Amino acid sequence: MRVSNISQAKDLLEQHGQRQILAFCDELNDQQQGQLVSQINKLDFNNLDKWINELVLNTPLADIPDDFKPAPYYKATPQENEQKALYDKALKLGRELISGGKVAAFVVAGGQGTRLGFDGPKGNYPVSPVKNKTLFQLFAEQIKANSNRYGVDLAWYIMTSPLNDAQTKEIFKENDYFGLGEDNVFIFQQGTMPNFGFDGKILMADKDKIACSPDGHGGSLKALFDSGAIDHMKARGVEYASYYQVDNPLINIFDPLFVGLHALAEAQMSSKTLIKAYPKEKVGNFCIVDGKMTVIEYSDLPDEHAERKNPDGSLVFELGSIAIHMVSRSFVEKINEKGFALPWHRAEKKIPYIDAQGNKVKPTKPNGVKLESFVFDALPMTTSSIILETLRENEFGPVKNATGIDSAESSRELMIACWAGWLEDAGVKVPRKADGSVDAVIEIAAGFALDADELKSKVNEIPEIKAGDSVYLG
Ligand code: UD1
Repeated sequence: MRVSNISQAKDLLEQHGQRQILAFCDELNDQQQGQLVSQINKLDFNNLDKWINELVLNTPLADIPDDFKPAPYYKATPQENEQKALYDKALKLGRELISGGKVAAFVVAGGQGTRLGFDGPKGNYPVSPVKNKTLFQLFAEQIKANSNRYGVDLAWYIMTSPLNDAQTKEIFKENDYFGLGEDNVFIFQQGTMPNFGFDGKILMADKDKIACSPDGHGGSLKALFDSGAIDHMKARGVEYASYYQVDNPLINIFDPLFVGLHALAEAQMSSKTLIKAYPKEKVGNFCIVDGKMTVIEYSDLPDEHAERKNPDGSLVFELGSIAIHMVSRSFVEKINEKGFALPWHRAEKKIPYIDAQGNKVKPTKPNGVKLESFVFDALPMTTSSIILETLRENEFGPVKNATGIDSAESSRELMIACWAGWLEDAGVKVPRKADGSVDAVIEIAAGFALDADELKSKVNEIPEIKAGDSVYLG
């Protein structure tokens, strides 16, 4: 039901126990009242009371099914001849699909990046070891290098949120779309969800502004459709979106093996996995639940299952989710045309708000609930979905925290370690410290080499690397 003015809004909010939204409406001018009415019209009153009851006022227990087992997966390298033939076929098909412009990059970059303590879109965070290139620039260079390799302009879809959309667009404009051409970059916004106090009341960020936050990366599947990104893909002939997170500079965006295995299986949404380093590593677990591909969050997987081992000592649930997916355009079209809803996940957070007197409050401890959906919750809706193993050292170096684990510093070290591995593969001597770590700062631009094989063909252009050197190959 839509309301067209404050008086109608009062009745509606009264029915749902949310009258506090209008507490200061008498102080607002016509324009501010109009803005507030349009925010109220964005609330989903069909579901609001249910969500508040089930997820805000109560903390739902994780629904762990009785019957779940580890998911099957393809190892990073083929295990026997028959599989080798399949991988060869997939590689060939993947290369054809990329060359045909049928695969696009798709980064989710709508998050707040609070843990990093960085002001602005996370994609603008400088991270590369020698040149301090930003995450956006690294991705753009990789897309450009793939466009050159495959002889086609590859498209890049970027999901932002109201928190960072304008700034992200500005960054792309200022940097002339990082040389990709404006036509090949499509920036769109995800949806939002209102924030709640622990009493189930929607919080106000200001007298005329409902407190909202992005609706989680699961919102991407709806936002792709609602924003026109899917139509844009269709018009360009894009069939697959290579989904990744803005925090991972080591992502291999156009991996022909992954594309090919996904396409051969006629899969709707597929995933990359890495073998967990330890039982309770903070990554989701790929499982088959009632015959369906499912990710069970690390916090929801009971210890006895997380710790279970096979006779060879490997973990029974060893497949970690690192938020790398291949998503078929037809799948996004189908679920949106039929209508779908991903489950909401509850998170207790510190949410800035205005109190009953209209004072702005910045809480120092959690004061309410945010609801987010997760993209991997779409996996059970697929009828076909494959998992391909990737190696941690090649494809996972996330920047999430200011210091320590998953920080810019650890990510830089992982980039250096990965590129040092490529150099050694190509027969180049890399200085190492006694503990085995690389004793040089190394950066290889995507335009120089996209992978170890390409680097081998450039070995004559690589200078000698001495201990303590800073080496940029670009
Ligand atoms: C996530 C995954 C975890 C995975 C890890 C890999 C979840 C719940 N967990 O953890 O399984 O192992 O990454 O690094 O997803 N984003 C949006 N809009 C939003 C929220 C997030 O675009 O509304 C984007 C962020 O910009 C970021 C990504 O999604 O690129 C991840 O978000 P974040 O909340 O940081 O996930 P993690 O907890 O790090």
